Amino acid sequence: MQAKSSLDAHPTLVKPRAYRHLEVQPLTGVLGAHIVGVDLREPLSADVWEEIGNAFADHQVVMFPDQKLSHEQHVAFGRGFGEVIRLPQLHSVEGHPDVQIIRRLATDTGRVVGENWHADSTYLEEPPRAVVMRAVDVPPYGGDTGFLSMYAAYEALSPAYKALIAPLNVVHSATRIFGSAYLAQGRRYNASGAKTQMDVELGDREMVHPLVCKHEVSGRPFLYLNKTYSQRIDGLTTEESAPIMNFLHEHCARFDFTCRARWHNDQILVWDNRCTMHRAIPDYAGQDRYMTRITIAGQRPAR
Ligand code: SIN
Repeated sequence: MQAKSSLDAHPTLVKPRAYRHLEVQPLTGVLGAHIVGVDLREPLSADVWEEIGNAFADHQVVMFPDQKLSHEQHVAFGRGFGEVIRLPQLHSVEGHPDVQIIRRLATDTGRVVGENWHADSTYLEEPPRAVVMRAVDVPPYGGDTGFLSMYAAYEALSPAYKALIAPLNVVHSATRIFGSAYLAQGRRYNASGAKTQMDVELGDREMVHPLVCKHEVSGRPFLYLNKTYSQRIDGLTTEESAPIMNFLHEHCARFDFTCRARWHNDQILVWDNRCTMHRAIPDYAGQDRYMTRITIAGQRPAR
């Protein structure tokens, strides 16, 4: 029978699969897994890469504990997921331009970078496919990253709602991050913070992507919108878009579509930036947190 409440529609769970070279320990039934039994400092065989690829496709967010990687080894591992690119709003480690920094000092105040549920840079024509993050020096508690599965969020919608949103496209831009909407709030770029001097015109540039996309590897449909970059439904006004977008923002943030990554120094985490969203959890004021990240090029999202 048709579910009367969205809350009666439970997410599809990841089916367990057998691995020969890795141990894969799911974090929740919906997304996230620890992978142990592999040393990322060493070149990996094609068989191991195939299993990592399978675990990544199934679990969408994979974590490798206890990997003492140098910046060069971090980049080399990242290249296994595709071509490495750089995000314009992040600083790089000196001498390692592909290794970008997410850092907050104990003395920093104000908002933490990435506090809203989002996927990275969906304002681009070809947003990143994946991010390979490394915990360099993290607090002993707090500072987790939340992740959620946009496959699960899509699958839990009713058939009629799926049909309603199937033809819709969403306008994305970075206007609130480094465009004129950012400047209109009286905020200014901070050369010592996460933002370098940014191109306001690039921030305001609009890009249209389907609201429901198909994953190029799994073939599964997923929702593609987020509070950071999605502005409105293409062809509708902001006000007309609000009922659809507000419902979807709230629906996507359901706890049963999520997992939480607890960081430890030397942990490597790879998230699929197409079919997941993530958010930084700002519960570590007064402590330093230093992460580095490699960004992997993606394709234009398509239905
Ligand atoms: C981000 O949104 O890229 C940052 C996530 C985090 O710091 O946990």
